[in-house]
Amino acid sequence: MAEIGTSDNPLRVAIVGSGPAGFYTAGHLLKSEDAKVEVDMIDRLPTPYGLVRAGVAPDHPKIKSVTRVYEKTAAREGFRFFGNVEVGRDVSAAELADRYHAVIFAHGTSTDRQLGIPGEELSGSHAATAFVAWYNAHPDFADHEFDLSCETAVVIGNGNVAADLARMLALPREELEATDTADHAIEALAASSIREVVVLGRRGPAQASFTNPEVRELGELTEADIVIDPEEMELDEISAAFMEEEAEPTNRRNVEILTGFSEREPEGKPRRVVLRFLSSPVELQGDGRVERIVIGRNELQRDQSGAVRAVDTGERETIECGLVLRSIGYRGEQLEGVPFDESRGVIPNVNGRVTDGGGGARVPGLYAVGWIKRGPSGVIGTNKKDAQDTVDSLLADLADGVLPAPEAGADAGSLEALLIERKPDHVTFTGWQAIDAAEVAAGEPRGRPRVKFCRVEEMVGAAKAGAGNAVAG
Ligand SMILES: Cc1cc2nc3c(=O)[nH]c(=O)nc-3n(C[C@H](O)[C@H](O)[C@H](O)COP(=O)(O)OP(=O)(O)OC[C@H]3O[C@@H](n4cnc5c(N)ncnc54)[C@H](O)[C@@H]3O)c2cc1C
Ligand SMILES: NC(=O)c1ccc[n+]([C@@H]2O[C@H](COP(=O)([O-])OP(=O)(O)OC[C@H]3O[C@@H](n4cnc5c(N)ncnc54)[C@H](OP(=O)(O)O)[C@@H]3O)[C@@H](O)[C@H]2O)c1
Repeated sequence: MAEIGTSDNPLRVAIVGSGPAGFYTAGHLLKSEDAKVEVDMIDRLPTPYGLVRAGVAPDHPKIKSVTRVYEKTAAREGFRFFGNVEVGRDVSAAELADRYHAVIFAHGTSTDRQLGIPGEELSGSHAATAFVAWYNAHPDFADHEFDLSCETAVVIGNGNVAADLARMLALPREELEATDTADHAIEALAASSIREVVVLGRRGPAQASFTNPEVRELGELTEADIVIDPEEMELDEISAAFMEEEAEPTNRRNVEILTGFSEREPEGKPRRVVLRFLSSPVELQGDGRVERIVIGRNELQRDQSGAVRAVDTGERETIECGLVLRSIGYRGEQLEGVPFDESRGVIPNVNGRVTDGGGGARVPGLYAVGWIKRGPSGVIGTNKKDAQDTVDSLLADLADGVLPAPEAGADAGSLEALLIERKPDHVTFTGWQAIDAAEVAAGEPRGRPRVKFCRVEEMVGAAKAGAGNAVAG
């Protein structure tokens, strides 16, 4: 048998997940001058691109144009896409390891973190993961219902996802209709009675995780005033020292922008977005559904490591509200047979090489990249360098001859044969291009970038109609 990584015996790699991390990894591998590589990318959805399609806010269309880079990767020789195939359900991680020289996990962090407070399970309390997926037409959430008949919604968290949620709750129908927001969400959001969105940060404005453009946008909403009590912007001793000694330029600019907002007189727009700081949710209350949230007032303290932490002062306040969205970060889920660090919600790894959780020994042939490798932080571009690091580890292992021999043989037809039998309605990249074309065509007469399909059956139908059959291509 020829050496692995040559034309006669290409390095065969399965990538689980087609988000930014998966695509950057495929791109780096297929451009490699050190080895001839073939990449099979598998996604549980018929549609590629992960959170670029199902996370990025619909009113940020420019960001989504990064998919053009991924399309170029998909057009490279040696790339294949198998959509509508869930690893752990349709095919196991072990079955992939049997068929490839290397398996790279890039399946992101699809679930949410919990607050762990009483009332969190009440109707009307939701994770950002669910709300985001719903307005972005993720098929798992097509039938989810959000009751928007209340006057006040509370968003918990001070990250960019919280900013996305606040904006989406405040956009008028005509602005939603210019985007690729799911049709069901446009109808529900346009009919919403929500007039006030309160965003709660547990620490101060200096420690907020927002980036500057996202903060600025909150002050540019056409139908909502931004409201911050000037007292909220009076920095305590710890924040003042933080600003002097360790604040990043982003923190400083955030404070300047937020201070500007606190000095504004409301213009009397129909809605308001109210930013509150040093406020943590303590309990959600209501008779069967959320009617109010009890918030605790925090003060800032330095912990033993020197980090600035929010500490409960014991002071309480109640806000009447009917919708609570917790936006405190995403979390990874374990794939059967793949090591998992339960405390961090990621795959344990060293430079992308998967290790077994306990002793940290390497699991040969398994790699991780993106949010399931690092945890749920960083923008799309962060995954490019991260992917390069994982690819460097893999190619070094190839050069060192430490990749395991696949038991079933690394045969290019092997996964396809298995899927034709087990998952005949899997979707190839040609199938996705047919879905894409159908969505764009549906949007054109309405002046929209696309009208997204919300159901897997519709997607598979469009793939079949456009590509002859879903398996073609
Ligand atoms: C709501 C939100 C908005 C964001 N907006 C921006 C933004 O505007 N700009 C920006 O730069 N960054 C933004 N980000 C960050 C950016 O989206 C992430 O950095 C990036 O998507 C992480 O890439 P990933 O490939 O690791 O994961 P993901 O993008 O989550 O991709 C994971 C893929 O794996 C698939 N998958 C999951 N489980 C399985 C399985 N068992 N089998 C097969 N496939 C599976 C999923 O379907 C998905 O396609 C946003 C993040 C969120 C949460
Ligand atoms: N437009 C964009 O570029 C864009 C849009 C969306 C997302 N993203 C990126 O995607 C990544 C994830 O964003 P994210 O907003 O989910 O996460 P994030 O940036 O990590 O923000 C999480 C927020 O939740 C707070 N939090 C955590 N636990 C909490 C608790 N128990 N109670 C109250 N608050 C709590 C955090 O506060 P502490 O700081 O006190 O921990 C923080 O304010 C980020 O890197 C983000 O920049 C980018």
